[in-house]
Amino acid sequence: MSAMPIAARRAVPGFLREMFASENRFITLIAVLAALGGFLFGYDTGVVGGAAPYIEKSLDTGTFGESWVVGSLLLGAIVGAFASGKLADLLSRKWTKFVAGTIYTAAALGSALAPTVETLCAARFVLGLAVGTASFVAPMYISEHSPARLRGGMTAFNQFMITFGILVAYLADYALSGFSHNWRWMFGFGAVPGICLAVAMVFVPHTPRWLVQRGREDEARSVLARSRPEDDIDDEIDGIREASRSQHAFRFRQLLGPRLRMLLLVGVGMAMFQQVLGINTVIYFGATILKFAGYTTSTSVYEAVYLGIINMVGAFAAMLLLDKVGRRPLMITGTAGNVLTLIGLGWFFHMSSGFQHANPSVALGLIMAYLLFFEISLGPIFWVMIAEIYPLRSRAKAMAAATMVNWTFNFLVSYFFLQMTTDISKAGTFWLYAGLGVAAVAFFSWKLPETKDRSLEDIERQVRGAA
Ligand code: BGC
Repeated sequence: MSAMPIAARRAVPGFLREMFASENRFITLIAVLAALGGFLFGYDTGVVGGAAPYIEKSLDTGTFGESWVVGSLLLGAIVGAFASGKLADLLSRKWTKFVAGTIYTAAALGSALAPTVETLCAARFVLGLAVGTASFVAPMYISEHSPARLRGGMTAFNQFMITFGILVAYLADYALSGFSHNWRWMFGFGAVPGICLAVAMVFVPHTPRWLVQRGREDEARSVLARSRPEDDIDDEIDGIREASRSQHAFRFRQLLGPRLRMLLLVGVGMAMFQQVLGINTVIYFGATILKFAGYTTSTSVYEAVYLGIINMVGAFAAMLLLDKVGRRPLMITGTAGNVLTLIGLGWFFHMSSGFQHANPSVALGLIMAYLLFFEISLGPIFWVMIAEIYPLRSRAKAMAAATMVNWTFNFLVSYFFLQMTTDISKAGTFWLYAGLGVAAVAFFSWKLPETKDRSLEDIERQVRGAA
């Protein structure tokens, strides 16, 4: 970076400059490796929509079986999130991610080779265990390593990798669409990033927060020394030590105690709203929605790739903005933008089919705007903030609880979407999501704290003070 001319350096947004600055290279490397977990999450989210029709033909699943090929992964993710709330404390964040990478690899190969729809659903359930785990342990791992001033952008890098995984999955679906047994290749490819994640986790260090909690302060000090100025290390260790004072194991039910109840509500509220505005109806059924809007089957698959690109652009913008603008303003503005685009989509589907077929690009434009708004707000901020707002002792379990709620609503919304478009019409479905979006904006304006620029321990001190 220093070799760059000053004018060129000024043109690079602040966060990117920081990301590649020599003193932050260690944190950046760690974020990139940990975010392979985000890639797996995104790849699996994106691939199944394109694979499902071929599985239907090849294994003769019927519509019911097809829904379960999608749903089994989501159920696995709910169970995986629950189980890894304990594992992340006992085994460490690092080794929990290693286990997730290993299980993911085995289950990706298992899905690719499945002889029947039942074995395929079983393999995808196991895959879900790994995805549910990686979905929150990756942001927790990055967040616990990062200095306060870069934490938002670094943790949001995981969301960027989710969107990258989704795009790669769309491209794989597109590229393989002419081959027989292509769905096996689509699933099998997931083993590659799975192995990369497992191997990478062998080489990365534990987070300083987990080390101090285990009484391994010397190791924590040497991890911090790789990314913090010498003079700051003692203060940071003192802060973490104070935060992890209690020796008692933390239990799930303590989340309902007076100190954490409100924060649990914030995490669970974000988890639910992230899904009930319908993001995964676009991610899973994007091509179908475009077909509803008047695109032909072949162009709608092609346009879905554009949606994947826009999704990534939004996530990239969030990385640059989170530590500058702050979480609260982005969350509120982005969600309000989602409400407007959902109202617009409802209006589009309310118009005559003649109008729709003459103007399908209006729907495409609205969906693109919807994705951009989601990716600068609910997409990354939910994951960034559940890794920030909970005190260290309760962090893994509270994040697991919020993550379980997220996957549960992911399952419900995507499972019922197509049925809802017939029961209450397409317009009614998008207007319902918009109504829930209005509730989300009110909830965030009322309850969402600002965590920008504050250390995790500083946030914890405030929680304790408020209690
Ligand atoms: C959500 C996923 C969604 C993805 C889209 C994530 O933050 O949790 O459900 O598929 O964003 O980019």
